[in-house]
Amino acid sequence: MTLDVDAPRSLYLQLADVLAGQIEAGTYGPGDRIPSVRKLRDQFGVSLTTVLEACRVLEDRGLVEARAQSGHYVRPRRPPLRSEPEESKPSSGAKRVDASLAVKLNLGIGNPQEPTLGAAVQGPELMPVAALNRLLGHVLRHQPAACHSYDAPPGSPVLRRSIAQRGGDAGYAVSADDIVITSGAKEAVYLSIRAVTRAGDTVAIESPAYYALLEVLSSLGLRALEISSHPRHGINLDDLAGALESQPVAAVALVSNFSNPTGSCMSDEDKRRLVALLDRHDVPLVEDDVYGELVYEGPRPRAIKAFDSRGLVLYCSSYSKTVSPGLRVGWAIPGRYQNEVELLKLVVNQATAVAPQLALAAFLDSGGCDRHIRRVRRTYRDQMASMIDAVERQFPDSTRLTRPRGGHVLWVQLPDGVDAMDLHAAAERSGIRIAPGPMFSPSGGYGNFIRLNTGFPWSETTERQMATLGQLVADRSR
Ligand SMILES: Cc1ncc(COP(=O)(O)O)c(C=O)c1O
Repeated sequence: MTLDVDAPRSLYLQLADVLAGQIEAGTYGPGDRIPSVRKLRDQFGVSLTTVLEACRVLEDRGLVEARAQSGHYVRPRRPPLRSEPEESKPSSGAKRVDASLAVKLNLGIGNPQEPTLGAAVQGPELMPVAALNRLLGHVLRHQPAACHSYDAPPGSPVLRRSIAQRGGDAGYAVSADDIVITSGAKEAVYLSIRAVTRAGDTVAIESPAYYALLEVLSSLGLRALEISSHPRHGINLDDLAGALESQPVAAVALVSNFSNPTGSCMSDEDKRRLVALLDRHDVPLVEDDVYGELVYEGPRPRAIKAFDSRGLVLYCSSYSKTVSPGLRVGWAIPGRYQNEVELLKLVVNQATAVAPQLALAAFLDSGGCDRHIRRVRRTYRDQMASMIDAVERQFPDSTRLTRPRGGHVLWVQLPDGVDAMDLHAAAERSGIRIAPGPMFSPSGGYGNFIRLNTGFPWSETTERQMATLGQLVADRSR
């Protein structure tokens, strides 16, 4: 077996692919030691560094673990104990959105942030706080005039260039001029939806859907058309095609990779099919991709934007999940709606604060950002594994749960008869916050689902909270 030195894919990734294939095929089973780094070096005729990088990639993918002084061993794969929820069956017809529940329920977003199972937020351990503080201090000291002046849309050219350069990771090729900096992904989604709709229009959304999207639709007087979605593969494209055939739809909106709340991730084939469908009907898509970078293993999934040649996709993302939500830096790539989004940004809040934009640009351009993202992917993977393990140990057998391959939210279907709102109230009395399913539906659906946040390091408190929650569920399922 040889590697191709002329291929665009780096040698270490090629080597990792070969080894991953052998693990997949059972050549090396759980607990087996893969050949030593020296042996791999000689076998494949590459440098030790290349082999070590390949092993690191396999660790990142969760396929092997390093044992001190001993080598790399294939990690055990435990079969899942609980099944996953079925594809959703939302109520049909476009309806006005009642997002009051989402607004009313305090999910535990606070400042400073306490660990919570409710809001989809991460702990400071998952953020490069020291590096960001240094860079913020640096830009404030060295560029005080820039930092304290108004910026204008589309935002800092340096940051837009850095973001454009990193677009290849998500499969899209854009220039700095195609990007509008926003105050977080939430603003990018808000401006994008506003740019392509008018009050009374219908927006087709995946169901369940990110509750802040529902708040946007509600605040703009839009109707939501819920489309069934699979907890692993995302929106059902046949159902979406049927909806686009049968009624006027102003836009489609969804989270393409590791959606909130299900963690679903669309395949490349579905992404391509979706773009073709949108092209056929000339309907824009607001794509939210805040979690794409947080893939646990393997390459980062591509954005739907990667398949868009006609500018119908308004891509929205941010550095809130990967770097820091408090910096409030996100961006939109609005395609053919660039002018509308830039104008709306100007109208809504002129521009995003300059110092965070410049500090972030410096962080992105340092090797530190890639190292940081590689590190947090592993941490998120481990935290998710701990949460899944806790649900399997503590919740009744008939509980179902998703198995996200990225991000930090877990979607749990409670046993029949357990009401998520009642559970939410009981949990809150015990000092535990969770996100009840009805928050993720414009019509109060998902009454026996909850979403759990896995953004904090596992602790004794989390273990205790999960035991209490499991008991509360068991009490209600009898
Ligand atoms: C799907 C999704 N989009 C957007 C956001 C918010 O992003 P930002 O903090 O960058 O506005 C979140 C936060 O939970 C999210 O889950």
